[in-house]
Amino acid sequence: MSNTQAAAGAVPGPQRFAHRVIVWQREYGRHDLPWQASRDPYRVWLSEIMLQQTQVQVVHAYYDRFLRRFPTVADLAAASIDQVLAQWSGLGYYRRARYLHVCAQQVCARHAGAFPRTQHELQLLAGIGRSTAAAIAAFCFNERAAILDGNVKRLLGRAFALPARDTQAAEQRALWQLAEALLPEQHLAAYTQGLMDLGAMVCKPRKPQCAACPFATDCQARLAQHGAAALSETVASIKPRARPTGSSARKTQHWVLLWAEDVHTPEPRVWLERRDTQGIWPGLWCLPPFDSVTEALHQAARLGLIMEHTKLACTNHALTHLDLQLQPLQVRLDPASAPQEHAGRWFTLGAALELGLPAPIRRLLQNRTLVQAPVQHASVL
Ligand code: ADE
Repeated sequence: MSNTQAAAGAVPGPQRFAHRVIVWQREYGRHDLPWQASRDPYRVWLSEIMLQQTQVQVVHAYYDRFLRRFPTVADLAAASIDQVLAQWSGLGYYRRARYLHVCAQQVCARHAGAFPRTQHELQLLAGIGRSTAAAIAAFCFNERAAILDGNVKRLLGRAFALPARDTQAAEQRALWQLAEALLPEQHLAAYTQGLMDLGAMVCKPRKPQCAACPFATDCQARLAQHGAAALSETVASIKPRARPTGSSARKTQHWVLLWAEDVHTPEPRVWLERRDTQGIWPGLWCLPPFDSVTEALHQAARLGLIMEHTKLACTNHALTHLDLQLQPLQVRLDPASAPQEHAGRWFTLGAALELGLPAPIRRLLQNRTLVQAPVQHASVL
């Protein structure tokens, strides 16, 4: 019998499982993240929303700045959506910012500015799902509430090797049941943070650090890999899964961005349009995109008399499932007194940078003064 098999066993029962997570968290987990300094539900809620689909290192920079701009939930509720999006600009998944704003308004309108204290009530607020509500309730109010984000699903899936179910919904139900059964009686904050830390730092999707795991000797996926147990094929594998290919391969879109500037004003004024609330960059202000330079120039002609235009270097921007190739077309024009386009407005550069802008558009406008070397000029259509 190998060493692994000799040491191997069933995964510990609920209280021992939780105990190991808590002990591990105290010794090896993260303790100095900015949102851990407070049990204020506003701060914890903000961190949990920002951390959905975004890495801790990225959130760091945004979190403090956001709190300086909106120190309380009332400040956030009173802001305009553009002011909120401006602080969110670059974090991506902009629907989160819209829900964040609505949620702040709900907290003020329904709860007099104090976040409710239970998972159940938190879950009734905009943008707060079951796991996020549990995290806030556990961190702030020590409620025995189970989290189950992607990292925790992977951790539990591997450690316990739940048998396959007929449907995904049945698998989710089984995972939630397990997550709830494992909850300790106390130390909910350390336990919840421990699960998050183990999922992020040890039980990683591709290169799990099994030697550092408190469940190394009884993790069912690991034992299966060592041949000690026959496991259902649906169990989350400890081996990296192959990347999907074929129809789910990334696509690229080429956008010509119309960068219209007013020739008259000493401080540059740019034409921006608000994007639809569906699709890419929902509700953000953007240089209007077109499929071709010709289409962009036609639109520019509606905004005023074109004096000159310049094709600038392309930049690439990766979205979750799509690569954007962005080709800015700078057009200097004498604006028509009443532009026919109502989705947009002229903004001074300073005012534009206060808006919710997609990150690559913000970078372009910020670098406005550095833009040089025209590639091509034309004076008439
Ligand atoms: N991911 C989600 N919530 C988190 C938290 N509180 N700390 C670290 N990573 C997280």
